[in-house]
Amino acid sequence: GPAAARPRDLDGVRVVVSAGGTREPLDPVRFLGNRSSGRQGVALARAAADRGARVTLVAANVAAEVVAGATTGSDRVVVVPVETGEELRHAVRSAAKDADVVVMAAAVADYRPETVADAKLKKTGGPAALRLVETVDVLRELVTDPPRPGQTVVGFAAETGDVTGSVLEHGRAKARRKGADLLVVNPVGDGRAFGTPTNDVTVLDAAGEVVATAAGPKEDVAHAVWDAVRAHVDGPAG
Ligand code: CTP
Ligand code: CA
Repeated sequence: GPAAARPRDLDGVRVVVSAGGTREPLDPVRFLGNRSSGRQGVALARAAADRGARVTLVAANVAAEVVAGATTGSDRVVVVPVETGEELRHAVRSAAKDADVVVMAAAVADYRPETVADAKLKKTGGPAALRLVETVDVLRELVTDPPRPGQTVVGFAAETGDVTGSVLEHGRAKARRKGADLLVVNPVGDGRAFGTPTNDVTVLDAAGEVVATAAGPKEDVAHAVWDAVRAHVDGPAG
């Protein structure tokens, strides 16, 4: 809905939102990436700004026209473009030193190529297999080593569900494992979430309890996430 109809309940709140998907280079022309468009993260940045927050949007490979959704007509959003998980980590942690809330909406690679070739890899004599090493879990690190103690940390979890559990079961386990204040769980695959204008999410607390659900345009879902953040920060009424 229109910004004027939204509450201005984030006035003066400083937030960091990561968005998009990291790219882990193999050589000067190739990378390991993922399908995140950055739209949900951009919508979160926009929604926070419309509610009065000062926003740093750490944008991992987000198309300019998508980023424009956060910046056009708003002077509250500063964009920091990044490519790799390690660049994202440093940009997020640096901005988070002055932030009240950090939202990790970016799809960060879990693994990266062990080495990056200086020159383009050739088909002849190229690697038969890729050696990968684990990346730093930025969300986990924000919880265990907060840049600013007491800040609210929000994670996202894209889940498909599988033989070992449903989307929500995986989400609950992840919420407990990650220890973030809130974890926004959304089902992906089958044309859901990635690259689409809508999303449907369940917001869990660190104990894995459901605190909110929302579905619809990513803008509406973004506002529902900020509602949940506000409720978390304000604590139980009475
Ligand atoms: N995340 C992160 N750094 C990573 C990987 C993930 O900060 N290296 C963050 C994401 O930004 C997201 C949350 O962790 O907010 C959950 O990401 P997800 O990939 O769902 O969790 P993983 O712990 O990587 O579990 P999975 O095995 O399902 O990929
Ligand atoms: Ca992952």
